[in-house]
Amino acid sequence: MYRKELYVFDGERPRKTVIRPYTEQDMEAMIRIQQESFPPPFPEELWWNREQLGNHMRLFPEGALCAEVEGEVVASMTGLLVHYDPQDKDHSWAEITDSGYITNHNPDGNTLYVVDIGARPAYRKLGLGKWLMLSMYEVVIRLNRERLLGGGRLPGYGRVAEEMTPEAYVEEVLQGKRKDPVMSFLLKCGRTPLKLAADYLEDEESRNYAMLMEWKNPFYSR
Ligand SMILES: CC(C)(COP(=O)(O)OP(=O)(O)OC[C@H]1O[C@@H](n2cnc3c(N)ncnc32)[C@H](O)[C@@H]1OP(=O)(O)O)[C@@H](O)C(=O)NCCC(=O)NCCS
Repeated sequence: MYRKELYVFDGERPRKTVIRPYTEQDMEAMIRIQQESFPPPFPEELWWNREQLGNHMRLFPEGALCAEVEGEVVASMTGLLVHYDPQDKDHSWAEITDSGYITNHNPDGNTLYVVDIGARPAYRKLGLGKWLMLSMYEVVIRLNRERLLGGGRLPGYGRVAEEMTPEAYVEEVLQGKRKDPVMSFLLKCGRTPLKLAADYLEDEESRNYAMLMEWKNPFYSR
């Protein structure tokens, strides 16, 4: 099973961190990460429940990772395997993740699809999100799949939605004229934009838009 030990930097201070699969014992901590990561107006019913978390651990434990800082689980990332073809018609988050229950997980799928990533606010900008993403890339390499893919929310879009289209917004983020809390983070993690998706998730801040972004496995062999 996956286990990575490292130090993240909290300002000048190194803090001992472990990235590992989450288990039954981590349920409370996982739910707390969700509550703090997705505060209102994000719909509460989209936070993890025990059944979803149980499915993640049972159906695809390789894709259920958490980051523990000095013994406390404070960030997590979850994925499932799906078959994806860039020609496929647009999907919503609920369709491709079975609303987070991942019962559609396909062990033969060519793509590791991100269901969710989040870090508790007090533990942000320490590099945990990026370390989790890099760890998930390692899972993609180990399982020899084509890509990691996911829809990145655009929480900064809502503030300027009256002034510009979402296409213009993501273009400005790509040109470095604007920063988006999620899309800029994903770019820093090495993800590249594929296409804009409308009605992706009930997410007022993003006006329900998301940017589908991928990372291609450089080691992939057929
Ligand atoms: C998105 C999220 C997981 C990022 O986690 P994090 O641990 O704070 O991110 P990291 O510290 O690993 O940041 C990695 C890089 O992204 C940048 N970054 C992180 N948050 C950013 C932000 N809000 N705006 C711009 N850049 C940001 C960092 O500066 C860092 O850059 P560097 O590599 O040049 O140092 C976290 O902000 C979060 O939980 N958000 C709420 C939940 C959410 O919306 N998740 C996405 C679902 S699609």
